Amino acid sequence: MDKLLVQGPCQLNGEVEISSAKNATLPILAATILCPYAVKFVGIPDLMDVGTILKLLQSMGIKVSKHDHEIVIDATQLDNQHADYTLVKTMRASVLVLGPLLARYGQASVSLPGGCAIGARPVDIHLTGLEKMGAHIEIENGYIKAKCNKLKGAVVSFPFPSVGATENIMMAAVLAEGETVIENAAQEPEIDDLADFLMSQGVRIEGAGTSRIVIHGMKLSELKAPSKPYRVIGDRIEAATFIIAGIMGGGEVKVKGFNPSHLQYVLDVLTKMGAKFEIGSDYVLVHQSPRLKGAMIETLPFPGFPTDVQAQMMALMSLVEGNSVVTETIFENRFMHVPEMIRMGAKIQLKGNAALIEGVESLSGAPVMCTDLRASAALILCALVAHGQTEVQRVYHLDRGYEKIDEKLTKLGANIQRVRG
Ligand code: UD1
Repeated sequence: MDKLLVQGPCQLNGEVEISSAKNATLPILAATILCPYAVKFVGIPDLMDVGTILKLLQSMGIKVSKHDHEIVIDATQLDNQHADYTLVKTMRASVLVLGPLLARYGQASVSLPGGCAIGARPVDIHLTGLEKMGAHIEIENGYIKAKCNKLKGAVVSFPFPSVGATENIMMAAVLAEGETVIENAAQEPEIDDLADFLMSQGVRIEGAGTSRIVIHGMKLSELKAPSKPYRVIGDRIEAATFIIAGIMGGGEVKVKGFNPSHLQYVLDVLTKMGAKFEIGSDYVLVHQSPRLKGAMIETLPFPGFPTDVQAQMMALMSLVEGNSVVTETIFENRFMHVPEMIRMGAKIQLKGNAALIEGVESLSGAPVMCTDLRASAALILCALVAHGQTEVQRVYHLDRGYEKIDEKLTKLGANIQRVRG
């Protein structure tokens, strides 16, 4: 298992190019199951999770050819509609193949994803939505066994705006008979990007990016191959991580290649805390700021504060003047970075789903362990400014969702060495 050795503290300066969003790439690649032709993508990030979804598509007989960041996926023919436990257990987002498989082939057998480090993460909302569209679903031997003659458009009203469920139902609705309305849909920018990808093939979708999405079902023969290669949007979570790194590193960092409006809430919080930056059309230029002040945040579905930036924000809050409070409302166990950060000198108390953070003057390097993707990012942020060496173990969590984060930080002036193992 690789580990990272980070020598701190360091000042960061320069420019960093943000990769395409992992959380948009995964559903969009899953959506190619709907396409009876080859689809070309550019700028696909080199991430472990992207590798996993490509392996999953290949395991079904879909042809994938890859040259650096360009990928062609040809799902004209499939051999099977099975997503095996061996792959699904390594990445929960694999469940996104369920909607498109069912829509195109009338059957699917997809391993039920188990819980993960940050919470139980059931998929009941996905399944009841598909049942509403006429699917017959049973859980057998750890697999979701789904069948239908033809999915039918329906009004699917979610009890909670689940990102994955919105994506699964949207994809299923493309080849359903009639119109599907998703009420209380997730509004994340990644949903909008999936809609853009589908619309580039003639699908009619209204309201993506709002809480009510309408998808007009069509026949397979009516789908048309996109006229140009598709590029997925920039990763707002990676961008937020680098913006926070820039603020913590105390230099001038230009974070470019994403849409800053996707981070409005985070940027507003940072402004209130005293951070100085300039916002461009596709970049944020972080300036040196005086010591920031504490803040109160609560994670919420988009456009609220993203749970995927909560851990990185806590890294920043651990060094500001005064106290901060972070309330996590999306996942029940998303504070696993806290004990590791405390070992680096942070002062944090956990009370239920809230964390009380008392800002300290400095952190010190320590051996720490990554537990999940965003927790790992938070530990790297702490390590950049901590005094001495931090040994960050189990960085495979980081490699799932951050493309070459160590190389990108090194270019900005960080002292990071990857030890392969
Ligand atoms: C996606 C993101 C993840 C992000 C999360 C919330 C991807 C690949 N992952 O995950 O990075 O942290 O959105 O922004 O895009 N829930 C249920 N039943 C369901 C579905 C969800 O109870 O059927 C609950 C979950 O347990 C969780 C909450 O709803 O507590 C949010 O989950 P959801 O929005 O579905 O997140 P994901 O799509 O899994």
